[in-house]
Formats: sequence, C-alpha cells, structure tokens
Amino acid sequence: HNADKGEFRHYMLKEIYEQPDAVARTIEMAVDSDAPSKLRDDFLQRHEALLKGIKQVQVIACGTSYHAGLVAKYWFESLTRVPCSVEVASEFRYRNPVVVDNTLVICISQSGETADTLSALRDIQKHTPAGLVSLALCNVPTSSLVRETDIFLPTLAGPEIGVASTKAFTTQLAALMLLVLKVGAVQARMTDEKLSTLLEKLQALRGQLHASLHLDAPIKVMSEHFEYKKSCLFLGRGLQFPIALEGALKLKEISYIHAEGYAAGELKHGPLALVDKDMPIVVLAPKDSMFDKLKANMQEVHARHGELFVFASEESKMVAEDRMHVVYVPEVCETLAPIVYSIPVQLLSYHVAVMRGTDVDQPRNLAKSVTVE
Ligand code: G6P
Repeated sequence: HNADKGEFRHYMLKEIYEQPDAVARTIEMAVDSDAPSKLRDDFLQRHEALLKGIKQVQVIACGTSYHAGLVAKYWFESLTRVPCSVEVASEFRYRNPVVVDNTLVICISQSGETADTLSALRDIQKHTPAGLVSLALCNVPTSSLVRETDIFLPTLAGPEIGVASTKAFTTQLAALMLLVLKVGAVQARMTDEKLSTLLEKLQALRGQLHASLHLDAPIKVMSEHFEYKKSCLFLGRGLQFPIALEGALKLKEISYIHAEGYAAGELKHGPLALVDKDMPIVVLAPKDSMFDKLKANMQEVHARHGELFVFASEESKMVAEDRMHVVYVPEVCETLAPIVYSIPVQLLSYHVAVMRGTDVDQPRNLAKSVTVE
C-alpha cells in the first residue's frame, strides 16, 4: 500500500483520525471558506438541469454505504420535501421494483465496484424510465460505478484500507448533505436563509470532529466493559437511528460480538425482552427533538437492569450513575449530529476489537470490496 500507517497501530485508527480533514475537504468542493454562506457556483453546475427535473430519489447501496443512504432519506424529506427511498442493492435488484419517471438514482459506494450495487443500477438503466438521472457517490473516480452514471459526486476521503469503513462513511454523509442543499437550491425548495445556516454549520464540522477524537481515551475505558460480552444493542431515534445501525455493524464486523441496531421506539416490540444485566446497551443521545422520547426509552432499559453506555451532549445533563455510563460528545446542530456521533461508535468498536485481539483491519470472512455476488 502506498498509504502508510504512520504512528497508528491500525489503518482503521488512522482513518478514524483522518476524518476532520477528509470531511472538510469534501465540504470544500461546494463551499468556499471566504464565502461560507453560499454554494460555490461551480458545484454540480453542469448537472443543474438534470437535478431540476427530478421528483424523487432512490438510494441503492450496501453495508455502511447503505447506512449513509438512510441518513440522506431523513435529510431529503425533512429539508427539501423530495421523497426518498433507500434500499440495499441485493434486495432491490431481485424484486422487480418500480422506478417511476424523473427519479434520481443515487448509488453510494466507497469502492464503486460492489457487484450488487452495479447490477441494480444496470437493471434500472435497462428499463430506462423517463427522466432517469443516475449519480455515483463514490470514493474511487476511476471505478465502474462512476463510468456508468450521469453524475459523479466524489467523496474526498482518500484511500481507505481498513475493511470496516470509517472516513468513507462520514465523507459520504457530508457529500449527501451538499447534494440535498444543491437539490434544495435548484428546485427552490429551501429558503436562502436555511441554506446558508446549514452551509455555515457544515464549516464547523471540522472542529467538532476534531474535538470528538478527544473522546478516544474515555471511550477506551468504556470499551473494557465489552470485552467478554456476547451481544450488544445500539439504540437511536431519528437521524441517530442509522448511526445505531452503523455502530452495531462496526462492532460485529471487527470485534465479532453480536450487535443489533434498533430504533429506540421499537424497544417495546421485541428487544426489551433481551435486556438483562449482561447485555450492554449503547445509546446515541444528542439533545435533539427526540431526546425526551429517547430518555423514556433509556428509563425502560434501566428499570430492567440493563447497563447503559450513553453518548450524549453535555447540554442534556445526563450524568453517570449505577449501570449508566455517559460520555459527552461535542455540541453539534441536530441536522449534522449523525456525522459527529459516528466517531464515538467507531472508536468504541475499534477499542473493543483491539482488546479482543481480532484482526482489526482485515476481519475474518470479510472483504473490502465485494465484487462478486
Ligand atoms: C463491504 C465492506 C464494507 C462496505 C460494503 C459496501 O462489505 O466491508 O465496509 O460498506 O462492502 O462497499 P462499497 O464499496 O460499495 O461502499
């Protein structure tokens, strides 16, 4: 590999630490630091006519890239009112799905070579619905996916070597937000004020991501509780639900502990039956519009002797107590919080995996890029 691990023990850790720069680089594609409240004129300029005509969005992806798509669904619908569906490529391609006219198909893929994602795209293109626009959100400019789509939106993560995706994910989120803003702007579905507020908040991410890396030490301490666990639950609501899914995926991929991500509001419909004193429950708990509801969910778990590991904002005034561990995540606006809250779940999985002595960068049975079905 031309990329070097440098001072880091694993590529994954190095890539976790590269995120403030990688995300900032990705954002700079669309925003100038000397004009931070407007989109750059040249951002996706060639494609404005295409983006103007789309009436809905279909995201197709696999693995971690699929989780980025789930966040985009919340963003597209709440910020622009453009309907957005998200599906894993391996299901989408085999169920004879309906793709209506004027759909923007977004294929999210770090590698741009994932077999299922490519096949799903090719199937849609064969049926040529009117006004179809395809977009590759991809980290590899020379990939098949980029060659076969109308629009290329790059993530500027740089080469990602660890099999478990980290900086590719957060740069995908950043780029998806830029795309949401661009669609909102060209279709006049967002006020200038809303647009400039979000653009300015995007600029703050670099500092917030940098600050969240300081959580490395407290999270390492927290991770000791997970070493001998068999199973783990990750909970979140709203924009944090996909991050709960991603946290669970990271933990299972590299530490081989069974983990499940759940929308906290679904607790009562099943997972509450699993709660006992042995199963750790990780909660993504920024002080957002869902916080009070989430707090009630945490109380349900606590009352059943579950041990909670909470990533919260200091503003939430959550404090550690018996069977409740709290790590404060830097303040960030609700909309962009999923990008920042990705960091603690990555660090937690990383430290648990290291403690359990797994092959962090090359977990058993997994491949960086799944180019065959
Ligand atoms: C593999 C990798 C994951 C990745 C997924 C999708 O499973 O191990 O980290 O999220 O493929 O890959 P892609 O390159 O399409 O994003």
